[in-house]
Amino acid sequence: MQVVKTIPELRALRQKLSGTVGFVPTMGYLHEGHLALVKRARTENSAVIVSIYVNPAQFGAGEDFGAYPRDLNRDLELLEGEGVDVIFVPSDGEMYPPGFSSWVHVEKVTERLEGASRPGHFRGVATVVAKLFNMVAPAKAYFGQKDAQQVVVIKRMVADLNMGIEMVLVPTLRESDGLAIGSRNICLGPEERRAAAILFKALTLARRLGQEGEKDVDRIRRRMISLIEQEPLARIDYVSLADAETLAELDLIDRPALASLAVWIGKTRLIDNMPLE
Ligand code: PAF
Repeated sequence: MQVVKTIPELRALRQKLSGTVGFVPTMGYLHEGHLALVKRARTENSAVIVSIYVNPAQFGAGEDFGAYPRDLNRDLELLEGEGVDVIFVPSDGEMYPPGFSSWVHVEKVTERLEGASRPGHFRGVATVVAKLFNMVAPAKAYFGQKDAQQVVVIKRMVADLNMGIEMVLVPTLRESDGLAIGSRNICLGPEERRAAAILFKALTLARRLGQEGEKDVDRIRRRMISLIEQEPLARIDYVSLADAETLAELDLIDRPALASLAVWIGKTRLIDNMPLE
């Protein structure tokens, strides 16, 4: 396993790798969800490259960039056991040198949900992922279903810019109470951690109502909202029932849909989603 910090070092190692390269971009503070992506990449490729970079461009003013959890030594230890070939850990100066002024803006699918709540977030994500794709030149890239809108945005970018990279979507890993495993869970105090299970409960309620034949989105959304409001530590940012591909809000569940939500638990904003068949 080689750990490199600069783009020339990364490119030099990349050139020596033969066969297919699988790529897992991360912001570090790795958990089981990331390791599931790495394991999947390991089984499907001749070589695996992982990046660890907390990308300032995808955090808005007043968001948790400074407080985002980081532990590089622990990350490297976790990856050591996974058969990763190269780990890229760039600095901000390496990624955004003085004079940097080119951005990737994906239209439409970035305007809703996370894009509406976090202006500029997806411009930062698309730009850094495009840069990493250019440096790593992978055959396949691995992303978690937990960030469903991010996957829709990056798929759009890959198709529109003819990047020729296969996107592999890996299901969300969950704790025993259903909480989606995520880097921000560490920020929850014990009471908040208990309360955080409300996201999964609301999503499973939506799925159950759908399975029972409820098609009216307003009714499903109202039931989800009233369930979440029973949890005193939870504050809703959004609850969405949208077309699974375009993320346009639906009136009726008459096609593959995605239930998704963002909820503040204390000072921590959590997201989760569930496809509704
Ligand atoms: O999902 C993440 O961790 C980040 O958004 C990503 C894809 C690594 C880009 O910074």
